[in-house]
Amino acid sequence: MFEQLELAPADPILGLTDAFRRDPRPEKVNLGVGAFFDDEGKVPSLQSVRRAEQILAENDSDRSYLPILGAPRYGELVRELLLGDASGARAVTAQAPGGTGALRVAADFIARHRPGRVWLSDPTWANHGAIFRAAGLETVSYRYYDATSHGVDIEGALTALRGAAPGDVVLFHGSCHNPTGCDPDQAGWEALAALQAERGFFTLFDVAYQGFGDGLTEDVQGLRAFVKRGAPMFIASSFSKNFSLYNERVGALTFVGGSEDEALRVASQLKIAVRTNYSNPPRHGAALVTCVLDDAELRRTWEAEVTGMRARLKELRGSFVAALKAAGAARDFEFILGQKGMFSYTGLSAAEARRLTEDHGVYLVSSGRINVAGLTSRSLEYVARAVARVVS
Ligand code: LMR
Repeated sequence: MFEQLELAPADPILGLTDAFRRDPRPEKVNLGVGAFFDDEGKVPSLQSVRRAEQILAENDSDRSYLPILGAPRYGELVRELLLGDASGARAVTAQAPGGTGALRVAADFIARHRPGRVWLSDPTWANHGAIFRAAGLETVSYRYYDATSHGVDIEGALTALRGAAPGDVVLFHGSCHNPTGCDPDQAGWEALAALQAERGFFTLFDVAYQGFGDGLTEDVQGLRAFVKRGAPMFIASSFSKNFSLYNERVGALTFVGGSEDEALRVASQLKIAVRTNYSNPPRHGAALVTCVLDDAELRRTWEAEVTGMRARLKELRGSFVAALKAAGAARDFEFILGQKGMFSYTGLSAAEARRLTEDHGVYLVSSGRINVAGLTSRSLEYVARAVARVVS
């Protein structure tokens, strides 16, 4: 039946991990997928999470279904981290399988109840467009990144988004923009929030790296600028990175509306979107997050662990830029120091990225995005020398 079926291309990000695994070269380095690795090249198991595992193993054996929108306490904690006390009863949360699950539920809801165009930053995460198009929505891009200054082109973004109609949806990255690592400054966020109030478009924030930029609270100041103005929004958030719980798929979709009644209506329709996708969310990862955040001591431990991950990312940027200089790279990579979070948009072309992979076994996304956290003290100089060769 499917003998003539077209072979689908590999996923532009997760496909790199498959190719990396198949590569027999011992010197290979994976800077593709956005996961935080320690200096041993391992995804860390956080101490706070290991302790929560013990607590759950000893005290909790519930195997029943969760409610369709997930555990209520988990939802409260998600909102507390994202919104502080800014939301009250105007907000509601659906626990979701990862940030991607949250985005897909949002996309299904939007396609059904508010099917405008979805505006994505240029560039954006490689999967964003695919998720919204899979839900039947049209996507368009807005100018975001200035390749000459290696920064956000806020004027360009504002100009483009003046074209967004009230029925459209605009997606912003909460912090640590994927793939550029460049976020608007607070004045930029305020200007975008003012534009939202003027144009009346609907806002969707993708918050996948809270704590990896400037801090857990600092990294949500952009979205809070919108909330303060009363902007209705969806927030798709994920604990994959800041809890290092990638394969547990712990995410959430939060709606912030104008009233408790509106939040209740949205929640009722979100239930349908969830029920027709995966019925109700998986429990374990969210239970771990809840256990950590609800315990003062475990929470302190977790916050310190997030601080440690953020510090490692910053340190790696410094060492990488220094190593590129030492390797005699014929291009200035100083701008990498100003980028935030896990990713660096190196400015390497698709052809240069391909040469890095083919000639040196260094895997990166063809857009030139590297996962800085994929570097280790052992691989850093090797990668810098490879980059220097490719750009000379
Ligand atoms: C990434 O951008 O590499 C991560 O968000 C992982 C993924 O699912 O693509």
